[in-house]
Amino acid sequence: MNYTTIQNIDSLSKWVKQALKIKKKPLKNKKLGKDKTLGMLFFNSSLRTRLSTQKAALNLGMNVMVMNFTNEGWTLEFEDGAIMNSGASEHIKEAAEVVSQYCDIIAVRAFAGLIDKEKDNAETVLSGFIKHATVPIINMESATAHPLQALADAITMAEYKTKHKPKVVLSWAPHPKALPQAVANSFLEMMQLQDADFILTHPEGYELNPDITKGVTVEYDQNKAFENADFIYAKNWSSYKDYGQVTNSDTSWTITAEKMKRTNNAKFMHCLPVRRNVIVTDEVLDSENSIVIEQANNRTFAAQLVLQKILKTKL
Ligand code: CP
Repeated sequence: MNYTTIQNIDSLSKWVKQALKIKKKPLKNKKLGKDKTLGMLFFNSSLRTRLSTQKAALNLGMNVMVMNFTNEGWTLEFEDGAIMNSGASEHIKEAAEVVSQYCDIIAVRAFAGLIDKEKDNAETVLSGFIKHATVPIINMESATAHPLQALADAITMAEYKTKHKPKVVLSWAPHPKALPQAVANSFLEMMQLQDADFILTHPEGYELNPDITKGVTVEYDQNKAFENADFIYAKNWSSYKDYGQVTNSDTSWTITAEKMKRTNNAKFMHCLPVRRNVIVTDEVLDSENSIVIEQANNRTFAAQLVLQKILKTKL
């Protein structure tokens, strides 16, 4: 079993219930991972994903090995048949097979390059590990998806929702740097697996991959979208149309207390890290309606559920 996409979830409601059970007794399955090793490979920076996934593995009694390819690993080649006479020192074929001998599960973080849309959509790094590793693979945020984050988001919403069908708004917000679409993509996919009045709001030109937004209500007026919302999920992403470009830095999209007043006393969510007073004001982030810290806490139980399911497949 791999966990590389939201599509790997067979029943979101079941998974959320199971994760909440783990949250109540996180050390209940301390023996399940005994003598099993999780290898965590990072091609990009992380705080939450690295520590929560490691914590989850430790809760299950696993050993954990972490490697940062940004400054420690050989530069990898991913193209079949490449003549490796320039930058890359090692091919993914050998690297993935070798790591599979040391680890029972491999978790990979490799963001979008945001230069070549086709290459990012092909998920070069993640797909390379899926193809050439001989053990299960977990996606710790790839070019187009962040399914561990989306699962944690679903757990958090289940804890805080006060009605069966809440109004949930995913709102673009400004950011000085070009960011990937992965978090937004997986959140959208996850929202389509549950009963909610879901609205996506962003400036024109920030439309996400149409394959993912098919059937989703898009409202270009952020103020209108916020009306009576129960959850506001803020996130920046760079343009998908003008691929990887920052074409808009309109601060009128920043989430403010004034905008939150339009909502139904909505909870504020963000995957973190967040740029204060750019994406969201201090006032909102420090308010009692902000649940970003609890959201980050749930990353552990999302990861633990995934690891537990994989370990139970009797590696
Ligand atoms: N939300 C999230 O993935 O955080 P990190 O980038 O710090 O892991």
